[in-house]
Amino acid sequence: MIWAQDSSGGIGMGGTLPWHLPEDLAFFREQTRGHAVVMGRKQWESLPERVRPLPGRRNIVLTRDASYEAPGAETVRSLADALARVAGERAWIIGGGQVYAQAIDDADELVVTTIDGDYDVDVHAPVIGEDWTLVAREPGAGWTTAANGMRYAVERYERTGG
Ligand SMILES: NC(=O)c1ccc[n+]([C@@H]2O[C@H](COP(=O)([O-])OP(=O)(O)OC[C@H]3O[C@@H](n4cnc5c(N)ncnc54)[C@H](OP(=O)(O)O)[C@@H]3O)[C@@H](O)[C@H]2O)c1
Repeated sequence: MIWAQDSSGGIGMGGTLPWHLPEDLAFFREQTRGHAVVMGRKQWESLPERVRPLPGRRNIVLTRDASYEAPGAETVRSLADALARVAGERAWIIGGGQVYAQAIDDADELVVTTIDGDYDVDVHAPVIGEDWTLVAREPGAGWTTAANGMRYAVERYERTGG
């Protein structure tokens, strides 16, 4: 799974991202390029039209609405169906909040950008429990400062003992 959160775990506001951090969008592109991406219907709708479907990636959209159309993407009606479709290939769960909460037990890696600050949010990241171990942080200590002055760090977690 991959997401960006603020210092309190906020990830979304009003159907979109609470911040604009071009460096993190570029990082997301780089991480997910060439792989499948699995997302909720609301995350799909939050993508700007020019990157919907996300280019160079197999887009899979979760919805319970059988008549929903997501041109350029595959639609699936359950998380189990989404995971079955990507079995054997590297796939990224890319949100939003509902989907992260359901999928974290099936994930084997978390890539989390933390932004130094508190934003107005209405959607949160899942809690990263003790079954996850922090294996890397970039930069090691402190923060990377973006061109717009925002400070952020990227952490990678793997399953504890795994
Ligand atoms: N900061 C980040 O890294 C990041 C990443 C992604 C998203 N976000 C933000 O998160 C927000 C969107 O998150 P959200 O929690 O509101 O919505 P979401 O998880 O993107 O989508 C929820 C929708 O997905 C479908 N769905 C969820 N679970 C399903 C299941 N088990 N089976 C079938 N369909 C399922 C349903 O669609 P139907 O209603 O059509 O049935 C549901 O309404 C936005 O603000 C977005 O910007 C932030």
